Amino acid sequence: MPQLEKRSWAEPFKIKMVELLKMTTRQQRAKAIKDAGYNTFLLKSEDVYIDLLTDSGTSAMSDRQWAGMMRGDEAYAGSANFYTLEKAVKKYYGYKHLIPTHQGRGAENILSQVMIKKGDIIPGNMYFTTTRLHQELAGGTFVDVIIDEAHDPQSLHPFKGNVDLNKLERVIKKYGAKRIPYICVAVTVNLAGGQPVSMKNLKEVRALTGKHGIKVMLDMTRIAENAYFIQQHEKPYAKRTIASIVKEICSYTDGATFSGKKDALVNIGGFLALNDDDAYAEASNLVVVYEGLHTYGGLAGRDMEAMAIGIEESVQDEHMKARIGQVMYLGGQMQHAGIPIVQPIGGHGIFIDAKQFLPHLKQDQFPAQVLAAEIYEDAGIRTMERGIVSAGRNAKTGDHYYPKLELVRLTIPRRVYTQAHMDVIAESVQSVYQRRNAIKGLSMIYEPQYLRFFQARFKKLS
Ligand code: F0G
Repeated sequence: MPQLEKRSWAEPFKIKMVELLKMTTRQQRAKAIKDAGYNTFLLKSEDVYIDLLTDSGTSAMSDRQWAGMMRGDEAYAGSANFYTLEKAVKKYYGYKHLIPTHQGRGAENILSQVMIKKGDIIPGNMYFTTTRLHQELAGGTFVDVIIDEAHDPQSLHPFKGNVDLNKLERVIKKYGAKRIPYICVAVTVNLAGGQPVSMKNLKEVRALTGKHGIKVMLDMTRIAENAYFIQQHEKPYAKRTIASIVKEICSYTDGATFSGKKDALVNIGGFLALNDDDAYAEASNLVVVYEGLHTYGGLAGRDMEAMAIGIEESVQDEHMKARIGQVMYLGGQMQHAGIPIVQPIGGHGIFIDAKQFLPHLKQDQFPAQVLAAEIYEDAGIRTMERGIVSAGRNAKTGDHYYPKLELVRLTIPRRVYTQAHMDVIAESVQSVYQRRNAIKGLSMIYEPQYLRFFQARFKKLS
């Protein structure tokens, strides 16, 4: 018998319920995106066929999670589901104290207010929009200490999320450790293209910051995806489970903010986790002001139960293999078609290099913004700009930040779409690529003060 060359992976689940989608015509989509000011955030979801805007809160929950929702204990104080969640956080992540929040940015707000004083410096491995804004609102200044490769969409470095230890050391020397309450390490790094951090790097960051009394705070939003890359690409971890790698990552940190809407497979929820008793006491007091009592933090009891179950499901090896396997499949189709994408392929989606896709547009003509609009118009696929619009303006000079990466993100929700959907996506992007030279830029006609990418409006340049 001849041996098969390769065996395919498939999802470790079957589909129990489906959601029907509205199909639209190109003419309808052209009007919809124009009415939305060429901003995919302002489209109505019912006008979208395949929604790749984000992997946040868009995953399909399991039957176990839905069953857990029925066990919601909607008590104002001391809900049973809080204790279930606390147990899951201790078991899978190892943190001592848990404060639930309505989502990740709720935790970022509390952490920033507790830890940051005016004039402080917060190094991080590339910024994330809400994280940096909360640091700034608390009086801090973010400094990027990610390795240079992260800013190069073609670099094949397997751990492009790594912290550059020389950059970090220079920041410590320049500002002094007293002004640096913590370094924020994100696993994986969203805006770099879902790029992972290696365990070796985490250990080195721990050693360097430990010498200076600087804490390490994790943005552990996509930690299980990061663990998968460590398992695949870091030799000593090849035989380790995702669950054990996840727990080891947390062990090199003092606390974490978490958006449960990604890895943890829920539609809403997040938390702040801390090991330090005093910081916890302050944070659990502050959460009452912004989110709710420290045993629910803006969540219903049922949401906490679903998140506890989702955390457990997220660290299963088979789940993660299928999750990243689907992202890799789409990336492979795009590469095959010659579409310029960020390499290596990251954890939560495919990032198209809009500068290379539309080299005739200047960055302040918003190439990624217009490309996202064109992809929507072609087949109803909704994606997101992650470039100059997302980067915002320098608060002091008022100028745009000009990020090196000008990307369109095709984010894959977990357990939602099929391989046939992936094929349709790749073909649609290919069709836009074929007529790329005819695509014109945009000008911004409305710009809100905060996180402008959510609500800015544009018009086509003639
Ligand atoms: N940190 C990272 C790395 C994120 O990707 C996000 C959210 C947050 C923090 C904030 O969490 O949304 O629950 O308040 N990212 C979403 C996205 C919005 O589409 O990438 P949140």
